[in-house]
Amino acid sequence: MNEQTNTTIAKSAVSQTTLHSFMVFPEDLNYAGTLFGGKVLAEMDRAAAKAARRLLYGTPCDGSVTVSLDKVDFVSPAHLGDFIELTATLKKLGRTSIEIHVYVSKEDTTGAIAKICEGTFVFVSLKDGKPYPHNCFFSTN
Ligand SMILES: CC(C)(COP(=O)(O)OP(=O)(O)OC[C@H]1O[C@@H](n2cnc3c(N)ncnc32)[C@H](O)[C@@H]1OP(=O)(O)O)[C@@H](O)C(=O)NCCC(=O)NCCS
Repeated sequence: MNEQTNTTIAKSAVSQTTLHSFMVFPEDLNYAGTLFGGKVLAEMDRAAAKAARRLLYGTPCDGSVTVSLDKVDFVSPAHLGDFIELTATLKKLGRTSIEIHVYVSKEDTTGAIAKICEGTFVFVSLKDGKPYPHNCFFSTN
């Protein structure tokens, strides 16, 4: 794939957000009866992985892995039947690193929406299992 194609992908990624969602089922609850935090973290990682994979389409890289996740504060609980919405947004592109912010909210059975948490993930682009430059960058226009 040529340089121009990669540049085009990176430019279009500036304002692009990746959406991901799920409904809270009984197996997602902790013993307090609210959504298990580990489930939320796993879904955040999936949302970020989706954004990273889309960025890498058309590049020489064959995948990416999570290398880092910053502090996550859970500010409100979610309950059985809530819709959990995750929005992943590309924030920063390094040589092989891809920084992605994930915002998580809930929509309860009355339609009320509230923030659950947010966090920033760093992924590393790979080829044959080793870090490999993704050659993507944001336009300065
Ligand atoms: C990700 C992995 C391949 C990186 O290997 P590495 O030898 O540390 O790679 P490098 O030192 O070349 O760093 C690669 C990039 O990651 C960045 N990076 C490495 N560790 C980081 C961290 N803790 N936080 C943020 N960025 C980090 C580097 O700054 C570099 O970015 P750049 O290329 O944009 O400058 C390796 O650490 C690994 O396999 N980790 C396990 C990943 C995994 O299995 N994740 C799933 C959860 S278990």
